[in-house]
Amino acid sequence: MQKAPLFTLLLAAALFGLSIYTVYQQYSTNAKISALEEKVAACSPAAPTKQEEAHEDEEHEYPLGEKMGKMLYFTHKAGLAGKYQNWELAAFYAHELEETAESIIEAKVVDEGVEVSKLVASVKDHIENLEKAAKEQNAVEFPKAYETLLRNCNNCHVSTGKQFIVITPLQKDIEGQQFKK
Ligand code: HEC
Repeated sequence: MQKAPLFTLLLAAALFGLSIYTVYQQYSTNAKISALEEKVAACSPAAPTKQEEAHEDEEHEYPLGEKMGKMLYFTHKAGLAGKYQNWELAAFYAHELEETAESIIEAKVVDEGVEVSKLVASVKDHIENLEKAAKEQNAVEFPKAYETLLRNCNNCHVSTGKQFIVITPLQKDIEGQQFKK
């Protein structure tokens, strides 16, 4: 009767020891594996995945399309305000347009060998003429300056192979903003 508890005790102690050993073994194997993994990683610097590469290209590319969209927006609004001889508003948008053009010029964009910024710089005079006509409240010069500007926008689209982007004067009012004085 007395031997049984002693035996159980010994067995329990042995099992306990074994389980500690197993846990230790597991732990040291894991440590070895991760050390090995680290070595492998250090030997072969991870090549960027295709997705990462594409993302980087996108980040480096100048958002010319977006800027152009902004130019169109301000061109239309300036034209509309000028049509109603709302000179303060026309001058405001002509100025916004000028600032957008300037930001493209300053970015020194060269796209596939085309000196985009230099070409935009060549239309800046026409934008300035539009602003000047608005400030001087010149109802004769403003439509002329506007027409000349649009022609120059389109000329550049032709010379950059984007001849399918054709800007035309706005025929209708833009909803949601007052252009008539
Ligand atoms: C460098 C000469 C150049 C000049 C000057 C220029 N554009 Fe562009 N425009 C481009 C190019 C190049 C693109 C195509 C951009 C792209 O690849 O995303 C473009 C695209 C556009 C687009 C299409 C993007 C969109 O949001 O729909 C519009 C609209 C546009 N231009 C309007 C104008 C207006 C308005 C002017 C004049 C105030 C103007 N552009 C002057 C070269 C020019």
